Amino acid sequence: MSIKAVVFDAYGTLYDIQSVADVTEDAFPGYGEIITQVWRIKQLEYTWLRSLMQAYRDFAVVTRDSLAYTLRVLGLDYENETFERVIEKYLHLDLYPDATETLAGLRPRKLAILSNGSPDMLNKLVRNSGLDALLDATISVDAKKVFKPSPQAYELIGEVLGTAPDEVLFVSSNPWDAAGAKSFGLKVAWIERVTPEAMALACVENELVAPLTMFRAIRTQMDELGFAPDYRVRALSELPGIA
Ligand code: LAC
Repeated sequence: MSIKAVVFDAYGTLYDIQSVADVTEDAFPGYGEIITQVWRIKQLEYTWLRSLMQAYRDFAVVTRDSLAYTLRVLGLDYENETFERVIEKYLHLDLYPDATETLAGLRPRKLAILSNGSPDMLNKLVRNSGLDALLDATISVDAKKVFKPSPQAYELIGEVLGTAPDEVLFVSSNPWDAAGAKSFGLKVAWIERVTPEAMALACVENELVAPLTMFRAIRTQMDELGFAPDYRVRALSELPGIA
Protein backbone atom coordinates (compact mmCIF):
# COMPACT_ATOMS: atom_id res chain seq x y z
CA MET A 1 0.00 0.00 0.00
CA SER A 2 1.51 3.30 -1.03
CA ILE A 3 1.81 6.33 1.19
CA LYS A 4 -0.91 8.86 0.39
CA ALA A 5 -0.30 11.27 3.25
CA VAL A 6 2.62 12.31 5.41
CA VAL A 7 1.50 13.63 8.77
CA PHE A 8 3.83 15.40 11.17
CA ASP A 9 3.90 16.00 14.87
CA ALA A 10 4.51 19.72 15.47
CA TYR A 11 6.41 20.48 18.67
CA GLY A 12 9.83 18.88 18.64
CA THR A 13 9.41 17.47 15.13
CA LEU A 14 8.86 20.37 12.69
CA TYR A 15 9.39 23.06 15.35
CA ASP A 16 12.31 23.18 17.74
CA ILE A 17 10.92 23.43 21.27
CA GLN A 18 14.43 24.08 22.58
CA SER A 19 14.24 27.41 20.74
CA VAL A 20 12.40 28.88 23.75
CA ALA A 21 15.76 28.83 25.57
CA ASP A 22 16.84 32.30 24.39
CA VAL A 23 13.66 33.86 25.69
CA THR A 24 13.66 31.98 29.00
CA GLU A 25 17.31 32.89 29.60
CA ASP A 26 16.71 36.52 28.68
CA ALA A 27 13.73 36.71 31.05
CA PHE A 28 15.39 34.74 33.88
CA PRO A 29 19.19 34.98 33.55
CA GLY A 30 20.95 31.81 34.69
CA TYR A 31 17.70 29.79 34.71
CA GLY A 32 17.00 29.51 30.98
CA GLU A 33 18.14 25.92 30.66
CA ILE A 34 16.29 24.47 33.64
CA ILE A 35 13.12 26.42 32.84
CA THR A 36 13.18 25.16 29.27
CA GLN A 37 13.54 21.51 30.33
CA VAL A 38 11.16 21.41 33.32
CA TRP A 39 8.54 23.34 31.32
CA ARG A 40 8.49 20.82 28.46
CA ILE A 41 8.57 17.80 30.77
CA LYS A 42 5.63 19.14 32.77
CA GLN A 43 3.74 20.29 29.67
CA LEU A 44 3.70 16.74 28.29
CA GLU A 45 3.02 15.22 31.69
CA TYR A 46 -0.06 17.46 32.07
CA THR A 47 -1.42 16.29 28.71
CA TRP A 48 -1.21 12.68 29.82
CA LEU A 49 -2.52 13.36 33.31
CA ARG A 50 -5.46 15.39 32.03
CA SER A 51 -6.31 12.68 29.50
CA LEU A 52 -6.26 10.00 32.22
CA MET A 53 -8.16 12.22 34.65
CA GLN A 54 -10.73 12.99 31.95
CA ALA A 55 -10.19 16.64 32.83
CA TYR A 56 -9.21 18.03 29.42
CA ARG A 57 -8.06 21.63 29.05
CA ASP A 58 -6.50 22.67 25.79
CA PHE A 59 -2.77 22.81 25.10
CA ALA A 60 -2.65 26.59 25.45
CA VAL A 61 -3.85 26.21 29.05
CA VAL A 62 -1.51 23.28 29.69
CA THR A 63 1.43 25.24 28.28
CA ARG A 64 0.67 28.20 30.57
CA ASP A 65 0.08 25.97 33.61
CA SER A 66 3.33 24.10 33.08
CA LEU A 67 5.29 27.34 32.75
CA ALA A 68 3.63 28.72 35.90
CA TYR A 69 4.56 25.49 37.71
CA THR A 70 8.15 25.71 36.52
CA LEU A 71 8.67 29.30 37.60
CA ARG A 72 7.01 28.65 40.96
CA VAL A 73 9.07 25.58 41.87
CA LEU A 74 12.28 27.36 40.91
CA GLY A 75 11.33 30.19 43.25
CA LEU A 76 11.20 32.84 40.53
CA ASP A 77 9.07 35.99 40.82
CA TYR A 78 7.93 37.69 37.65
CA GLU A 79 5.64 40.31 36.14
CA ASN A 80 2.71 39.25 33.92
CA GLU A 81 4.43 40.94 31.02
CA THR A 82 7.48 38.65 31.41
CA PHE A 83 5.28 35.56 31.55
CA GLU A 84 3.44 36.65 28.38
CA ARG A 85 6.72 37.33 26.58
CA VAL A 86 7.95 33.80 27.30
CA ILE A 87 4.60 32.20 26.33
CA GLU A 88 4.48 34.23 23.11
CA LYS A 89 7.54 32.34 21.85
CA TYR A 90 5.30 29.28 21.41
CA LEU A 91 3.70 31.11 18.47
CA HIS A 92 7.12 31.80 16.92
CA LEU A 93 9.13 28.64 17.52
CA ASP A 94 12.03 28.04 15.14
CA LEU A 95 11.43 25.56 12.35
CA TYR A 96 14.06 22.86 12.00
CA PRO A 97 16.27 24.05 9.15
CA ASP A 98 15.29 21.19 6.80
CA ALA A 99 11.52 21.40 7.46
CA THR A 100 10.30 23.63 4.65
CA GLU A 101 12.34 22.01 1.91
CA THR A 102 11.45 18.50 3.08
CA LEU A 103 7.73 19.24 3.05
CA ALA A 104 7.93 20.77 -0.42
CA GLY A 105 9.78 17.64 -1.63
CA LEU A 106 7.08 15.28 -0.35
CA ARG A 107 4.45 16.56 -2.77
CA PRO A 108 2.13 15.40 -4.33
CA ARG A 109 1.30 13.42 -1.18
CA LYS A 110 -1.11 15.07 1.23
CA LEU A 111 0.75 16.86 4.00
CA ALA A 112 -0.61 17.62 7.44
CA ILE A 113 0.19 18.26 11.08
CA LEU A 114 -1.47 16.27 13.87
CA SER A 115 -0.61 17.96 17.12
CA ASN A 116 -1.63 18.26 20.73
CA GLY A 117 -1.53 22.04 20.19
CA SER A 118 -4.79 24.00 20.40
CA PRO A 119 -6.23 25.13 17.04
CA ASP A 120 -5.42 28.78 17.75
CA MET A 121 -1.79 28.11 18.79
CA LEU A 122 -1.18 25.82 15.85
CA ASN A 123 -2.75 28.06 13.24
CA LYS A 124 -0.70 31.03 14.40
CA LEU A 125 2.53 29.01 14.56
CA VAL A 126 1.97 27.53 11.11
CA ARG A 127 1.16 30.93 9.62
CA ASN A 128 4.07 32.69 11.33
CA SER A 129 6.52 30.09 10.00
CA GLY A 130 5.08 30.05 6.46
CA LEU A 131 4.15 26.35 6.53
CA ASP A 132 0.50 27.22 5.80
CA ALA A 133 1.48 27.42 2.12
CA LEU A 134 2.61 23.76 2.15
CA LEU A 135 0.14 21.98 4.43
CA ASP A 136 -3.22 20.57 3.39
CA ALA A 137 -4.42 20.43 6.99
CA THR A 138 -3.40 21.41 10.49
CA ILE A 139 -5.22 18.98 12.75
CA SER A 140 -5.57 19.60 16.47
CA VAL A 141 -6.50 16.88 18.96
CA ASP A 142 -8.83 19.49 20.47
CA ALA A 143 -11.64 18.10 18.29
CA LYS A 144 -11.51 14.93 20.48
CA LYS A 145 -10.69 16.59 23.79
CA VAL A 146 -7.99 14.03 24.48
CA PHE A 147 -4.25 14.18 23.86
CA LYS A 148 -1.87 11.92 21.95
CA PRO A 149 -1.06 9.07 22.40
CA SER A 150 -4.77 8.27 22.77
CA PRO A 151 -5.96 6.32 19.70
CA GLN A 152 -8.86 8.78 19.42
CA ALA A 153 -6.36 11.52 18.63
CA TYR A 154 -4.73 9.56 15.76
CA GLU A 155 -8.21 8.70 14.41
CA LEU A 156 -8.55 12.33 13.38
CA ILE A 157 -6.07 11.81 10.53
CA GLY A 158 -8.41 9.46 8.69
CA GLU A 159 -11.44 11.57 9.52
CA VAL A 160 -9.87 14.73 8.09
CA LEU A 161 -7.80 13.35 5.21
CA GLY A 162 -9.96 10.36 4.24
CA THR A 163 -6.97 7.98 4.47
CA ALA A 164 -6.66 4.45 5.85
CA PRO A 165 -4.06 4.07 8.65
CA ASP A 166 -1.61 2.13 6.46
CA GLU A 167 -1.69 4.88 3.80
CA VAL A 168 -0.27 7.37 6.27
CA LEU A 169 3.35 7.93 7.20
CA PHE A 170 3.36 9.61 10.61
CA VAL A 171 6.54 11.48 11.51
CA SER A 172 7.56 12.36 15.04
CA SER A 173 10.74 12.88 17.03
CA ASN A 174 8.84 12.23 20.26
CA PRO A 175 9.32 8.53 21.14
CA TRP A 176 6.00 8.31 23.01
CA ASP A 177 4.22 9.76 19.98
CA ALA A 178 5.95 7.40 17.55
CA ALA A 179 4.91 4.47 19.76
CA GLY A 180 1.34 5.77 20.05
CA ALA A 181 1.00 6.21 16.30
CA LYS A 182 2.43 2.73 15.64
CA SER A 183 0.13 1.19 18.23
CA PHE A 184 -2.79 2.86 16.43
CA GLY A 185 -1.71 1.30 13.12
CA LEU A 186 -0.02 4.12 11.20
CA LYS A 187 3.30 3.73 9.42
CA VAL A 188 5.79 5.62 11.53
CA ALA A 189 9.09 7.41 10.96
CA TRP A 190 10.81 8.33 14.22
CA ILE A 191 13.37 11.12 13.98
CA GLU A 192 16.17 10.12 16.31
CA ARG A 193 17.67 13.57 16.93
CA VAL A 194 19.80 12.40 19.85
CA THR A 195 21.77 9.30 18.88
CA PRO A 196 22.67 6.70 21.54
CA GLU A 197 26.32 7.77 21.07
CA ALA A 198 25.51 11.43 21.71
CA MET A 199 23.43 10.40 24.73
CA ALA A 200 26.28 8.35 26.20
CA LEU A 201 28.71 11.19 25.57
CA ALA A 202 26.45 13.69 27.33
CA CYS A 203 26.57 11.47 30.43
CA VAL A 204 30.36 11.43 30.62
CA GLU A 205 30.82 15.11 29.77
CA ASN A 206 29.13 17.62 32.02
CA GLU A 207 25.45 16.96 31.76
CA LEU A 208 24.91 14.80 34.85
CA VAL A 209 24.50 17.97 36.91
CA ALA A 210 22.25 17.59 39.92
CA PRO A 211 19.77 14.98 38.75
CA LEU A 212 18.26 15.12 42.22
CA THR A 213 17.43 18.78 41.69
CA MET A 214 15.68 17.82 38.48
CA PHE A 215 13.75 15.08 40.23
CA ARG A 216 12.75 17.47 42.98
CA ALA A 217 11.67 20.05 40.43
CA ILE A 218 9.45 17.70 38.44
CA ARG A 219 8.19 15.17 40.99
CA THR A 220 7.95 16.71 44.45
CA GLN A 221 6.09 19.99 44.00
CA MET A 222 2.30 20.42 43.79
CA ASP A 223 1.04 20.43 40.21
CA GLU A 224 -0.88 23.10 38.31
CA LEU A 225 -3.89 21.00 37.40
CA GLY A 226 -6.50 22.98 39.30
CA PHE A 227 -7.09 20.27 41.90
CA ALA A 228 -5.56 21.26 45.21
CA PRO A 229 -5.41 18.84 48.15
CA ASP A 230 -7.52 19.60 51.20
CA TYR A 231 -4.59 19.40 53.57
CA ARG A 232 -0.91 20.10 53.19
CA VAL A 233 1.34 18.41 55.75
CA ARG A 234 5.09 17.96 55.98
CA ALA A 235 5.18 14.44 57.44
CA LEU A 236 2.98 11.44 58.16
CA SER A 237 3.26 12.33 61.82
CA GLU A 238 1.12 15.45 61.25
CA LEU A 239 -1.90 13.40 60.16
CA PRO A 240 -3.36 12.83 63.64
CA GLY A 241 -3.56 16.63 63.88
CA ILE A 242 -6.04 16.86 61.01
CA ALA A 243 -8.08 13.68 61.23
C1 LAC B 1 2.67 17.85 19.52
C2 LAC B 1 3.59 17.84 20.71
C3 LAC B 1 3.05 17.30 21.91
O1 LAC B 1 1.68 17.11 19.53
O2 LAC B 1 4.83 17.38 20.41
O3 LAC B 1 2.92 18.63 18.60
